[in-house]
Amino acid sequence: MRERKHVKRLLSAAVAALCLAGPALAQDPALLERGRYLVEVTAACGNCHTPKGPTGNIPGRELAGGFTIDAPPFRAVASNITPDPETGIGRWTDAQIARAIREGIRPDGSLIGPPMPIAFYRHLSDRDLAAMVAYLRTVPPIRNAVEKSVYRIPLPPNYGPPVTSVAAPADNAVARGEYLAGPVAHCMECHTPMGANGHLDMTRIGAGGQQFPGPGGVAVARNLTPTGLGQWSDAEIARAIRTGVARDGSRLMPPMAFYAYANMSDRDMSDLIAYLRSLPARQ
Ligand code: HEC
Ligand code: HEC
Repeated sequence: MRERKHVKRLLSAAVAALCLAGPALAQDPALLERGRYLVEVTAACGNCHTPKGPTGNIPGRELAGGFTIDAPPFRAVASNITPDPETGIGRWTDAQIARAIREGIRPDGSLIGPPMPIAFYRHLSDRDLAAMVAYLRTVPPIRNAVEKSVYRIPLPPNYGPPVTSVAAPADNAVARGEYLAGPVAHCMECHTPMGANGHLDMTRIGAGGQQFPGPGGVAVARNLTPTGLGQWSDAEIARAIRTGVARDGSRLMPPMAFYAYANMSDRDMSDLIAYLRSLPARQ
């Protein structure tokens, strides 16, 4: 009798612990798996949020922040987005994390600056956003206080009106590929030229030309419209994205997240290629 009571008490303690650990544990496994795939593979959040050593992302420090992007307009330090309560986002609610990702606003009301691609993340579907939040809650918390970013340009007051609801893309290859190349993987943020006004020139979407200085030299984003990839086979495009090897066998430089795209599903890859082939040819 006494034993049964004891077991009961243990059980309710376990249930209480589960509740305290956050709602993620109660999420359905398909949502968590979708979140893992988005964060680790197609959105490659760790390409910015995981600190780097000489051979790339430092193992065991996933999403712990501190990687610094030094450019004339800013010295941006990627935040710790693990659930550490002191130095990460462990104290934020699901809704606060979701708002940070899709609208670029922190719980204290401050704006998240570039190059966090908020303009793209504003179009993440409700379900994908929920999946990312659920997954972020389950990654190991890492204690790592990161420096504040310095912005030498004025940040906008916001990235637009509040985003209330975004539907999943239409169920066809080109629409799914467009969603992947835009809101999820932000391929088009790097691969679209900058206009004179300092904004992406969307009339030339995918035409390339932006420069990315790195340790190995300056990489120039290539033309992904049929002007650039028209002669490439699907397999050659997939190899470039997954392994960083160009059609002529040469090695592509960072900052593309080849290590993450290596695990992209075949279906996503074929959707992406269908979309790239649908782009208007642009110089
Ligand atoms: C191109 C680089 C880049 C990518 C990709 C990126 N981020 Fe960020 N993110 C940043 C930077 C830089 C900051 C800090 C900006 C600042 O200091 O205002 C940031 C800030 C954040 C914050 C605010 C955290 C805090 O404590 O203030 C969250 C949450 C976040 N990112 C989540 C994500 C998620 C989730 C993904 C993937 C879906 C992602 N980021 C992809 C660069 C990036
Ligand atoms: C952070 C910026 C960035 C992002 C995001 C990015 N790319 Fe790239 N990409 C580049 C740069 C820079 C190069 C050229 C690298 C070089 O010259 O070594 C490149 C090269 C390529 C190439 C090789 C083309 C050629 O002519 O050799 C392909 C294909 C490609 N990217 C597709 C994509 C796709 C698809 C995505 C999204 C899943 C993507 N990229 C995301 C910056 C980016």
